[in-house]
Amino acid sequence: MNIDGKPHRSVWVEADGRSIGIFDQTRLPWSLERLTLSDEEAAATAIRSMQVRGAPLIGAVGAYGLAMALRRDPSTANLERTAAMLNETRPTAVNLKWALDRILAAVRNHPPERRADAAYAEAAAICDDDVETNRRIGAHGLPLLQEIATRKPKGEPVRVLTHCNAGWIATVDFGTALSPIYQAHDLGLDVHVWVDETRPRNQGAALTAWELGAHGVPHTLVADNAGGHLMQRGLVDIVLVGTDRVTRRGDVANKIGTYLKALAAKDNRVPFWVALPHSTLDMTVRDGLAEIPIEERSASEVTDATGRLPDGTVTTVRVAAEGTPAANPAFDVTPARLVTGLITERGRCEASEAGLSALYPEKAG
Ligand code: MRU
Repeated sequence: MNIDGKPHRSVWVEADGRSIGIFDQTRLPWSLERLTLSDEEAAATAIRSMQVRGAPLIGAVGAYGLAMALRRDPSTANLERTAAMLNETRPTAVNLKWALDRILAAVRNHPPERRADAAYAEAAAICDDDVETNRRIGAHGLPLLQEIATRKPKGEPVRVLTHCNAGWIATVDFGTALSPIYQAHDLGLDVHVWVDETRPRNQGAALTAWELGAHGVPHTLVADNAGGHLMQRGLVDIVLVGTDRVTRRGDVANKIGTYLKALAAKDNRVPFWVALPHSTLDMTVRDGLAEIPIEERSASEVTDATGRLPDGTVTTVRVAAEGTPAANPAFDVTPARLVTGLITERGRCEASEAGLSALYPEKAG
């Protein structure tokens, strides 16, 4: 994405060749602040605290976390301990394990003194792979939007609804669900995005609306509960979301509230599409509801809200009565039967084992 007129990724290696840089997403949308992570503990903290978040970006930062650990101590014991520690930071997105496994495979057969270089090279390859993958997802999703445009009355935009943030800041670049939208907008297609606020962490309000605004894509922020109403009124042409894990049979784990959007879409015959890179596909699990671990986050994210005061201070205030018990499941699973289709870097397919196996025969087993 362009920052100050120049292309910029959401994770990079710093000038010292060891540390990595990220944008602290907990400071958005108020300020775009760079943060340097110098060791694996800092990488783990950034993932846990959601200074970085979004399935593909978590994977990339985890990969560099392991590389930083190997620069300090390249022993097999440290390799395995650090991979396990990083893998536990967030449980739902499979991209983290996928990226750590890629580093493990790339370094394991090297003598200790060559492991760090091999790990940095593999982490860089993971990032390059993510950028190209997301560009292709955009190219395969774009025809869906173009086709809708051909059926719209002149002057009416293609109206997309999205949930959470699956834009460039959730990936290394371009995003997944937002990638087709960016490509459509750049080609001059009239697109408008309904942005779910995405309580409790407000990824829609704080990140998606900010990204779309910076890119000049018309959008409107709505409360999470507005989607069904908008669909009933015929104001949504397509729902387009990202995902943290897709199972062999096409079940989709994504930010809490995605399932309700899929139900509303089904009831209103609105197509519900999910964009995923290959790193999000987990063919080892079939039944998403039974087998995908759902991250349970702090209750304080529900009882509290964070915002900026007129004097510029960012502060957290309580919105629930003191002592209110709260639960905070961070993801839900949308069954494949509610998903119109999947958009991948290899093309589009049905959300089913047959559809995924045809696109990814090497993973089908
Ligand atoms: O808890 P988060 O913010 O990491 O959750 C992110 C999402 O659910 C995204 O929609 C998903 O990771 C897809 S990102 C391309």
